[in-house]
Amino acid sequence: MAAFHGQVSATMRNLATSLLLVFVLMEWCCTLGGAQATGGGKGGKWELLLNNSGVVAMHMTLTHRNTVLMFDQTSAGPSQYRLHPSGKQCTDGVYDPPCWAHSVEYDITTNTIRPLVIDTDTWCSSGAFLGNGTLAQTGGFGNGTRKVRYFNPCSDRRCDWIESEKLLASNRWYATNQILPEKDRVFIVGGLEVFNYEFLPPTSEKEEAFELPFLRQTYDPTVDNGNILYPFVHLSSDGNLFIFANRDSILFDYHRHQIIKNFPRIPGNGSRNYPSTGSSVMLPLEHEDGFRKVEVMVCGGAITGGSQAAKSGEFLDALSSCGRLVITDDNPEWAMEEMPGPRVMNDMLILPTGHILIINGAMQGCAGWQMATRASYHPYLYEPKESVGKRFSMLNSTGIARMYHSSAIVLPDGRILVAGSNPHQQYTFGVAYPTELRVEAFNPYNMGRFFDDKRAWNLSIQYDNGTDGIRHGEEFCVWFELEKEPEPANVVEFYAYSPPFATHSWSMNQRMLKLECRSMVRDVGGRTHAILKAPPSSIVAPSGCYLLTVVNGGVPSKSEWVRISQERGGLVIGSTWAFVFFRCVLFI
Ligand SMILES: *[C@@H]1O[C@H](CO)[C@@H](O)[C@H](O)[C@H]1NC(C)=O
Ligand SMILES: *[C@@H]1O[C@H](CO)[C@@H](O)[C@H](O)[C@H]1NC(C)=O
Ligand SMILES: *[C@@H]1O[C@H](CO)[C@@H](O)[C@H](O)[C@H]1NC(C)=O
Ligand SMILES: *[C@@H]1O[C@H](CO)[C@@H](O)[C@H](O)[C@H]1NC(C)=O
Ligand SMILES: *[C@@H]1O[C@H](CO)[C@@H](O)[C@H](O)[C@H]1NC(C)=O
Ligand SMILES: *[C@@H]1O[C@H](CO)[C@@H](O)[C@H](O)[C@H]1NC(C)=O
Ligand SMILES: *[C@@H]1O[C@H](CO)[C@@H](O)[C@H](O)[C@H]1NC(C)=O
Repeated sequence: MAAFHGQVSATMRNLATSLLLVFVLMEWCCTLGGAQATGGGKGGKWELLLNNSGVVAMHMTLTHRNTVLMFDQTSAGPSQYRLHPSGKQCTDGVYDPPCWAHSVEYDITTNTIRPLVIDTDTWCSSGAFLGNGTLAQTGGFGNGTRKVRYFNPCSDRRCDWIESEKLLASNRWYATNQILPEKDRVFIVGGLEVFNYEFLPPTSEKEEAFELPFLRQTYDPTVDNGNILYPFVHLSSDGNLFIFANRDSILFDYHRHQIIKNFPRIPGNGSRNYPSTGSSVMLPLEHEDGFRKVEVMVCGGAITGGSQAAKSGEFLDALSSCGRLVITDDNPEWAMEEMPGPRVMNDMLILPTGHILIINGAMQGCAGWQMATRASYHPYLYEPKESVGKRFSMLNSTGIARMYHSSAIVLPDGRILVAGSNPHQQYTFGVAYPTELRVEAFNPYNMGRFFDDKRAWNLSIQYDNGTDGIRHGEEFCVWFELEKEPEPANVVEFYAYSPPFATHSWSMNQRMLKLECRSMVRDVGGRTHAILKAPPSSIVAPSGCYLLTVVNGGVPSKSEWVRISQERGGLVIGSTWAFVFFRCVLFI
């Protein structure tokens, strides 16, 4: 991460801001107009990156070292990554983890993988990043079900999984993790036959799990696993948690262990959580209203009776509906829309433009081994601010089916990494929907060369070594290059993205914030600086590593990492802002 200068006194800040206004040569407002990128079609391009990732990307997540962790269960038997090519004799025994990798780290820059070692079974587990960019990864099956593992991302390719001695309070197989505003505390909820939640670390010594009757109430006893696994959780702008299971949702005060609000049931004849796996995102929070309005979107899933039918080999059409709910409204109602087709096991990702990408999955059946058919090869783009009827577009198709146990994440260069699929208990090839080890990238249309003249590049963010990141509510400076001065109607927007932990079509902890730009100046050479305001609190933006993107007229830049942190880095140094100010205007 770049260097950034933090601590500022209010007086210095005001002084600097006024001085800046005097000095600017050309300034345009960050939030004018409405033109968006058009031309060339929205289809996008697929590219095959690797033929063999070695292990199934049942779980996938991006680290701030620009690497991607991919891991599977350890109980699937031999993977396609042999740990000891020569030397140690490997048997093809089913349980032989020292011979076979079950986790790899993918390096985006070199397009290579290296094996990692997991000791306990990570099957259908979950995770969240802590404030310093360390992944806290929990649960799984068998000897892994109460495990806590950490991964400290490194740049020297020497880091590996670290298994903690401390165990979770409950078994967590198919649970959801949500990072909380409290420093490095994670909320972990649900799991198979587990109707409770806990905190990692616990809020007091010997704290047990807390019952959550809502999970029992939403559990459908007629369906294996009850349609409530991997519940959708979003941290709302009031500090409470939105929790969605099956078809119902609540606003939950985890401090007082109380339900604050019951939301209306989502319409549609079906369910949205495992095994009726749909997906959910929280639409970007925006500075214009102080990041207050929170709108949750839920798409896809399986029709009522769909998972029972799939067990007997009959695959019913998945749900094609999406619902949007403004959870901060006084009387929220679901606003329903139809996707271009039915979809289950659909990943939902927030793109750097604030649009939603719906990718992977199938048209019929539900989640589980061999429980679905008719792969969905076309991603859908969803533009939340378009008028109804114009929001969805069907994008170019891939040729690779991404069924159960596949995943997708957004990369810092704007591509979408797509990997995995294994609707079988073990690695199985030569069948209709085999174990899939090919890794692809999907390039959204606006990452194409056609838009390069609008694309901001060479971003740098200013940091102070003393402060460990940008603090909440603080102003900071971003430099970048722009080929052309934006037209007056152009919108230049700044987004901060918290990359999710993706598994089972659910991107937990995914969060997008549209930041306030205080001023922006471009010199004749194209070098542009913007003064941005960091999100106001750890409720809006839990401490962690975020990807910052400049979006010029709908065209995103490549993203740069920025750490947002509530930590105070020691003494308040009045001259720091003067330093930022100096750096920001000196080069004009
Ligand atoms: C994808 O879509 C775009 C625009 O819609 C088109 O130009 C392109 O040729 C398509 N096909 C492939 C294989 O990328
Ligand atoms: C994948 O394998 C195919 C067939 O062997 C080969 O043509 C292609 O170049 C390989 N691609 C990559 C990215 O390794
Ligand atoms: C945990 O279980 C897996 C089988 O899923 C086994 O291969 C592994 O050796 C076990 N690990 C430990 C530490 O017992
Ligand atoms: C990050 O923080 C966690 C929790 O406080 C800690 O366990 C971990 O060691 C830290 N990572 C690094 C690289 O310092
Ligand atoms: C819901 O779907 C199931 C299975 O397709 C069907 O049997 C049932 O009648 C439907 N219920 C409603 C209310 O439409
Ligand atoms: C990119 O920005 C840095 C300063 O952050 C500058 O030193 C460098 O010259 C720029 N690179 C190009 C190619 O303009
Ligand atoms: C800031 O940190 C970087 C990397 O840790 C180091 O190379 C550099 O010397 C530090 N700068 C100052 C002014 O301390």
